[in-house]
Amino acid sequence: MTSLEGVPHMAVVGADLHVEVAGGSRGLPAGQPGLDDWDVVSRDSGGALMTSNQEATSGTSARKFPDGFLWGTATAAYQIEGALEEDGRGPSMWDGFARRPGAIYDGSNAEVAVDHYHRYRDDVQLMKQLAARAYRFSIAWPRIFPEGAGTPNQKGVDFYSRLVDELRANDIEPFATLYHWDLPQTLHDKGGWQNRNTAAAFGDYAGYVASQLADRVRYFFTINEFSTFVERGYGTGTLAPGLQLAPAELNQVRHHAVLAHGLAVQAIRAQAPQGTKVGPAEQAIDVQPIIETPEHIDATRTAMRELNAGYLTVMLEGTYTDAFLTQTGADAPKFTEDDLRTIGSPIDFVGTNIYASHHLVRAAGNPAGFEVVPYQGTHPDALWPGIPKSIVSLPFTPESMYWGTKLLVDLWDVKEIYITENGGPFTHEPDAEGSQPAIDGIENDTDRIVWTRAYLHQLQRATAEGVPVRGYFHWSLMDNFEWSGGLRPRFGLYSVNYETQERTPKLSAEFFRACAAANAIA
Ligand code: NOJ
Repeated sequence: MTSLEGVPHMAVVGADLHVEVAGGSRGLPAGQPGLDDWDVVSRDSGGALMTSNQEATSGTSARKFPDGFLWGTATAAYQIEGALEEDGRGPSMWDGFARRPGAIYDGSNAEVAVDHYHRYRDDVQLMKQLAARAYRFSIAWPRIFPEGAGTPNQKGVDFYSRLVDELRANDIEPFATLYHWDLPQTLHDKGGWQNRNTAAAFGDYAGYVASQLADRVRYFFTINEFSTFVERGYGTGTLAPGLQLAPAELNQVRHHAVLAHGLAVQAIRAQAPQGTKVGPAEQAIDVQPIIETPEHIDATRTAMRELNAGYLTVMLEGTYTDAFLTQTGADAPKFTEDDLRTIGSPIDFVGTNIYASHHLVRAAGNPAGFEVVPYQGTHPDALWPGIPKSIVSLPFTPESMYWGTKLLVDLWDVKEIYITENGGPFTHEPDAEGSQPAIDGIENDTDRIVWTRAYLHQLQRATAEGVPVRGYFHWSLMDNFEWSGGLRPRFGLYSVNYETQERTPKLSAEFFRACAAANAIA
């Protein structure tokens, strides 16, 4: 992000969340039973589940979510599909990046990933068994336009068409993301997101997808995590395409990304039936007040707006803030008034991926009006296997759910919000210290359950106060290819055996199911 007067320079650079602060660096994020055994789990625990549901629904309203609240899981094409060379898919910039020595921590790649391309029907059943009512997936641009533009690939369209039909047949609402980082290689070769034409190509692609799927898909997300793919792909180089651009070039990439979003919003509106909803799925630079008093809350509001100036703020206000333009100075992006109108095209909702607060904030008498209180090294943290804590970490900040949604309303009067991702890399390798064996074949991911429950309590706090959060998507349905982290960090409610591709519910799957079934925290 832009560096602000009076606060340290900050940039998101981690595997999922990672914040670099001048003078230091602190990472945030950025016996296998099969399906039948899940039935056993549900049956065996049925009584207990009922008890907790009853408690959740009748014992205390502090656990209930609003009627109609959607529970779902999220995935992304490149992380789960595999089949990179099947049915006419063109190469993406991630294919080559993942083959670079050292680019992926564990040396793995996504050529097979979790073979979802061939197993999507079974995977929809996994969702069903979670009592999920919604699913967020992404469409691989190189499957639809193998060369980024030009002639569409019917087989690619057919795959997503079959997936959408399967979801609908199982009463699961499809939420489609149009860009989850797998840029067609041909476009990358022409400059990728550094080239303004990529934004136009994205608009065309979005309109085409809408023309093919919007009769059955009512919700579209334009781009997933602008801040992550831009800052890390073009700033620090730890995600594809692995570039480290100078500030002016990086600001131009940021601008092209939000412009692409605006063009996609317009193209979808032009192609889709009335009632189709569209919005971004951003991982905002989330902030929370270190102490919940009016002065620190005010400072946090300012921080949220300014730290997201290049992404969420310009999308929601249709203008770059004065502080952003002052700070970027000669390196500011080149843009026109028309660009700003496009970027600020009205949207129907904001999707927000919330894993942690990037910053704890307090009031300050500096020109920015806020300052960051650095996390202590002892702050509770989710560990990423194979990646040192100094490189990436995820500080336990359940309040990020409350502030990350409430501030969207306070600042921009957002009327509809989805938690498009939330979860953690809780991985239980048998030889790790303290690792506990599975019981009856079920991985006891106690950390994921306790962590997620705490976040859900803060989300419930927000909805109880009227913050219009309409749904929650857990990241992720199943373990998958965690970008530069490779296959080692495991985010799934279902564990995947990468040798056999067998999916097995973890204990957190039972927790999720209990929450979804009761529409309450279990
Ligand atoms: C952010 C990304 O959208 C997703 O692709 C990633 O796997 C998770 N969060 C976890 O890092």
